[in-house]
Amino acid sequence: MNFDVSKSLFGPGVFRDERTLSPEYVPESLPRREDEMARLARDLRPILQEGSFPVQIAVLGGPGFGKTATVKRTMEEITREASERGYSILFGYYNCHTTRSKTAILRHLLGSKFNISARGFSDEEVLEMMMKRLEKTNSHLVLALDESYMLDSNDVLSLVHAAEFFGPGKARISLILISRPTEWSHTLKDKLSEYLHDQIDVKGYTKEDLVEILTYRAELAFKPGVVSPDITDMVAEIASQTMNARHGIEILHSAGRIADLEGKSEITAEMIREGKANVYPELRTTALEQLNLYEKLAALGISRRLKHKGVTSTTIKEGYHYFKIACEEHGQKPQNEIAYREYIDQLNKIGIIEKIVKPIGKGKPGRRARLTIFDIPATVLEEKITKLIEKELEKH
Ligand SMILES: Nc1ncnc2c1ncn2[C@@H]1O[C@H](COP(=O)(O)OP(=O)(O)OP(=O)(O)O)[C@@H](O)[C@H]1O
Ligand SMILES: [Mg+2]
Repeated sequence: MNFDVSKSLFGPGVFRDERTLSPEYVPESLPRREDEMARLARDLRPILQEGSFPVQIAVLGGPGFGKTATVKRTMEEITREASERGYSILFGYYNCHTTRSKTAILRHLLGSKFNISARGFSDEEVLEMMMKRLEKTNSHLVLALDESYMLDSNDVLSLVHAAEFFGPGKARISLILISRPTEWSHTLKDKLSEYLHDQIDVKGYTKEDLVEILTYRAELAFKPGVVSPDITDMVAEIASQTMNARHGIEILHSAGRIADLEGKSEITAEMIREGKANVYPELRTTALEQLNLYEKLAALGISRRLKHKGVTSTTIKEGYHYFKIACEEHGQKPQNEIAYREYIDQLNKIGIIEKIVKPIGKGKPGRRARLTIFDIPATVLEEKITKLIEKELEKH
């Protein structure tokens, strides 16, 4: 096939709007999540009533079950409807993979919602300023903390208590905590459960759910006739094994790219089979993007070590060696081993690598950590991380 730049850029392709397949895109409607949306809105009703009280809600469910999309879409509708009726609801959404501390969240909120710089103020002072502003403007803040298990449970608790700051009937901050259930039970559950007004357990999607969802998402993303009902059915069948909508959407996206590359105007079963191999539904691509540069370099080092045949795990020492090489290759000053251990803990926390601590054995005292990768082949991780590092370094 001859390369024709004008055709690659402007020629006919299968996509109508490829943007709608990107991870951040939230569609207008969420078929099969109407009940969860109605329940969330119902839960938030008290904040619009006289003598309003704050609510704390947990939204829990597995990967790709639609938690993030449900909260974002519902809150958008709520703020719009409320403002039409003269209420002021401010919605703050934070992914705690990116914004990793209460301090960072409070500072950002104060700046973005109230245009006040928080420089030089303590968390308590920032909270107090925010409360006063909310009071003065007669507004209510709904704060959604996605991947909330990344935050310290005492910090989350202090936000709950802050909501009661002005006494009963005057509360102005509500929380929506989003998490996968395993992470939730390991972290926030014990301390937070008793404060929850509702816990919405989002269930995985069945094949029928996925047929409807994928038909809709294909309509948004592809030109008419590109994805036949048989193909949607096939993808729904595959994604129903994980009950994960992202799984299905990413397969369609990947197959669509293959169709474009091959210059075809329809997605075939073969393209789906090929596309399926590129998709790792458990992996949060957003989680990878949000790692800082050194964490990415640490992940790169480990994936390089583990891609060798027969190597299934590595040690901190060995990982550190590969990390230093990765740093030098990308023109970065290698950090010391103490810092490296922190990167590892971070990667472990967000589930990209697994750190297993075992006694050294052979009668020797002490324990040693072994590192391995979750859910995704080392070569795939290496490739994805390398791309992200290059992208990040280009910006500088
Ligand atoms: N009911 C639905 N209708 C249309 N698209 C959906 C629906 N549910 C989920 N999606 C899409 O599937 C993808 C995954 O959904 P979402 O990000 O909300 O999952 P999640 O539960 O937050 O997963 P994770 O635990 O990995 O963060 C998103 O692209 C979202 O837009
Ligand atoms: Mg999510």
